[in-house]
Amino acid sequence: MLQTMVPLLLEMQGITKNFPGVQALTQVDFDLRPGEVHALLGENGAGKSTLMRILFGVHQKDSGQIRVRSQDVSIRNPHHAQQLGISMVHQELNLVASMNAAQNISLGREKHTLPGVINWRAVYTEAQEQLARLGVEVNTRVPVRYLSVAQQQMVEIAKALSWKAEVLVMDEPTSALTPHEIDQLFQLLKRLTAQGVGVVFITHRMEEISALADRVTVLRDGRKVGSWPVKEVGMNQLIQAMVGRSVSQLFPKVETERREEAIRVEGLERRGVLHNISFTAYRGEILGIAGLVGSGRTELARAIFGADRIDKGTIYVNGKATPIRSPKEAIRHGLAFLTEDRKTQGLVLAMTLESNLALTVYARLSQLGVIHQSKRRQLAADYIDRLQIRPPLPDRQARYFSGGNQQKVVLGKWLARETDILIFDEPTRGIDVGAKAEVHQLMNDLAASGKCVMMISSELPEILNMSDRILVMREGRLVAEVSRQEATQELVMEYATGVRAPTGEMQQ
Ligand SMILES: Nc1ncnc2c1ncn2[C@@H]1O[C@H](COP(=O)(O)OP(=O)(O)OP(=O)(O)O)[C@@H](O)[C@H]1O
Ligand SMILES: [Mg+2]
Repeated sequence: MLQTMVPLLLEMQGITKNFPGVQALTQVDFDLRPGEVHALLGENGAGKSTLMRILFGVHQKDSGQIRVRSQDVSIRNPHHAQQLGISMVHQELNLVASMNAAQNISLGREKHTLPGVINWRAVYTEAQEQLARLGVEVNTRVPVRYLSVAQQQMVEIAKALSWKAEVLVMDEPTSALTPHEIDQLFQLLKRLTAQGVGVVFITHRMEEISALADRVTVLRDGRKVGSWPVKEVGMNQLIQAMVGRSVSQLFPKVETERREEAIRVEGLERRGVLHNISFTAYRGEILGIAGLVGSGRTELARAIFGADRIDKGTIYVNGKATPIRSPKEAIRHGLAFLTEDRKTQGLVLAMTLESNLALTVYARLSQLGVIHQSKRRQLAADYIDRLQIRPPLPDRQARYFSGGNQQKVVLGKWLARETDILIFDEPTRGIDVGAKAEVHQLMNDLAASGKCVMMISSELPEILNMSDRILVMREGRLVAEVSRQEATQELVMEYATGVRAPTGEMQQ
């Protein structure tokens, strides 16, 4: 009751936006009250990022109105948005790779001692303070390209927070984070909303809605389906509103039979990063790898795949000791690695959807060096269909697809290779609930057909539901192996943090 008396921080009315060939938004209304978290939901490509990028002045709307604190505004560019008290954490990391965390955080607002002279001491102190508020440790003096995706995400968040905005837009801020960091972030957001900041929160992790949001708005195909107070709406109802049908089972685990050994790692060492790691992964299973950000999960995958040098240890492929000195060798031995960082490692943004999908299978599609156009087309059509890539346009450049659809392209690219040992690093990051179920089904199929699937995931429900076995890493070591039967969120988190969780503290 009282809530409606408080003036709105933000009103967007009748927002419409067209991109060449795509009607991204049609007559969308959205508003934000001071002190609330308003979740924005929708399938990949529904228009969430576009709506918020219009608010932030990245795109210009075709029609509609925006009011900030009851004033009509026409937001020219991001700088203008920031002056109006709007800040945004982008879905795709927006940092300057060659600059360090402190420089990135202070970019555009550097404090000066004298005109033209930057006060570097203040820059570093402030960066450290911002990161400390988020409870993370990040080296602020190395270029951010050397930081993990999660650390970069934290820097991006710290940067947005440093503007002291009244409207804070977060476009999938948690997609690269583990429960521990998410917890820190949520506590901070709760402190901010208590001070009257309004937060727009985009996520595909449904459990975060009830943990954080007050209100939720769902978009589908660029239109608003509805807005509800979170307390008055059920998860199933939300999923139905998003995908237009009910998704019966989110994690359709199929029990498969474990077959012969696919890959065995013995005494793997990478100085300062990985310590004496030994384990075996089998055909016919999905082996989950859990751990906090920085625990060494991605580093382990990179070391196995030959992307990083190893100092000691042996890798056995199909029972045979196999030195893997480069990703090229790894691929030759039947390994695939879907990286978590699609922007720099997985996807060629300037190439078409079809070329990206065909990237790893040129040999199979070509004859005497000539690529079979029709085969390539067929392959693309197949994966567009299986992964529900939207819009289904093979000739469109990868850069124009929404974040989740780009992730599907990267996934399709590796699936097309038909390799035997697949390492997936955050395979469903940024993928919506409906498509997630499809990807999980695909992983089940891979395991059932006798392939070995290793899955790194920060999403505990995904790890718990999809894995046959779970390896837990902490500080570069393998600290536990948990069977499917004994695995619970609490147990895995206990191993991952090394701390016994007080009961009732965990997010659902
Ligand atoms: N710069 C652009 N040029 C052309 N089309 C675009 C551009 N940006 C987005 N689109 C298209 O607009 C539609 C909405 O995309 P948007 O990125 O807003 O989706 P989203 O809801 O954020 O999805 P996701 O959950 O995958 O991030 C999609 O069809 C997308 O392909
Ligand atoms: Mg998006």
